[in-house]
Order: sequence, then C-alpha cells, then structure tokens
Amino acid sequence: MGSPRCGKFITLEGVDGAGKSTHLDYIADRIRARGVELVVTREPGGTPLGEKLRALLLNDSMQPDTELMLMYAARAEHVAALIRPALARGAWVLSDRFSDASHAYQCGGRGIDAGRLQALEDWTLAGFKPDLTLLFDVSAEVAESRRSLARTADRFEQEQAAFFTRVRDAYLQRARSEPGRIRVVDASRSIEAIRGELDRLLEGL
Ligand code: ADP
Ligand code: TYD
Repeated sequence: MGSPRCGKFITLEGVDGAGKSTHLDYIADRIRARGVELVVTREPGGTPLGEKLRALLLNDSMQPDTELMLMYAARAEHVAALIRPALARGAWVLSDRFSDASHAYQCGGRGIDAGRLQALEDWTLAGFKPDLTLLFDVSAEVAESRRSLARTADRFEQEQAAFFTRVRDAYLQRARSEPGRIRVVDASRSIEAIRGELDRLLEGL
C-alpha cells in the first residue's frame, strides 16, 4: 500500500517516564550526523489534525473503544500525510511513539481485545511497521518516581502503578514476538550508559 519507502522509520516506546524524551534529541543528532534528512514527530499528533486529537486524548474522559479509534484516526492521518511522504523522498522519520503504544496502552493497559485493535491496524496501516523500535524499559515504580519530579500528569499519567505494569508487560511481550524490530533498552541505567547502547543499535541500521 502507498508510495515506495527509501528512508528508515524509527520509533521510541516505553511507559510514561521511561526516558524517551530525554534521548530523542540525542538520537536525532546521531542520525543527522550521517547527513540524511530527518523528520522528528510524535503520536498521538504529528499533523495539525493529529495534534487536535492529541489534546482530546490527553485531557477528555472517554470510553476505551473511543480512545482506541481516535488513536488510529490520528495515526491514519499521520502515516498518509507525513510519514509515508517523508520516507518516499528518502528522509528518515523518528517518531516518539507509534502503533506499539496502542498494543501496550489500549490492549495491555485498558484491556481491549487484541482482535479489535488488529482490525483497525489492518485497515489503517496494512502491515506498515517501523524499521527499528527502541523500547525504553523500566519498572512502573521507577517510571513513576521519574514522572513525579518532572511534570503535571495528563489523563494517562494519572493511572495507577498496576496500569503501567500491564503496559510494560504488553510492550515486553511484543518485543519477544518481534525481536528483530523491537530492541529493548534497559532504561533503569544512567543516561550515559543508555547512550552507549543507542550508538550501537543505530550503527546496526
Ligand atoms: P518519557 O519521555 O519517557 O515520558 P522523560 O524523558 O520525560 O520520559 O523522563 C522523565 C524524567 O526522568 C525526566 O526528568 C528525566 O530527566 C528523567 N530521566 C530520564 N532518563 C533518566 C535516567 N536514565 N536516569 C535518571 N533520570 C532519568
Ligand atoms: P507521550 O507523548 O509519550 O506523553 P509524554 O510526552 O507526556 O510522555 O504520549 C502521550 C500519551 O498517550 C502516553 O501516556 C501514552 C498514550 N498513548 C496511548 O495510550 N496509545 C497510543 O497509541 C499512543 C501513541 C499514545
């Protein structure tokens, strides 16, 4: 489906507070140092419409199915309007979250049946996946202590530790089923140690 793909598509995943944002600029700098065009984006969001949906998703209360469908509505727009065109012209794309987050949060966290998500994913993505996903893995407790230092909690970040433990477990299960694409980074270590591993993983591309 869609246009040919020349650039690489890299996504960052993990529970809130794992450290994705901390490493985003570092990863972007490493990729740009190779002289390729890089588009940095995020989900939910990444397009004008997607950012409006993000504001709803992070702030308004809604049913789990509504949440799932809005995530995929934003993603359909994001892939068609921004990600695929960028990859087709040879740019690389780095996205702070993508579809693995829906498997982890909506199925793992909220408990939505995986078959319902898969139907939406087959429809909107038709097999489209990242080339590399870096999963920043920490316990729910470490993530919570990092979040509490950092910011005001949005609708997801107000969830209890048990929710984030389910999200983490769903991410790890997904990583076990796709070990070539999803690389688990032990994010409980120091930022310097993590950067060393990121360098090695990016070299692999
Ligand atoms: P995320 O984007 O995954 O939600 P952030 O990158 O915003 O997480 O990190 C949350 C907080 O944890 C920030 O205050 C950040 O400085 C801190 N942090 C991130 N990585 C580490 C680390 N490896 N060790 C200690 N603190 C960290
Ligand atoms: P994020 O931008 O990582 O939040 P922050 O910058 O505050 O760390 O993600 C926003 C929230 O959306 C996050 O709590 C996870 C959630 N989310 C889902 O539940 N499903 C999804 O498919 C995506 C992309 C995000």
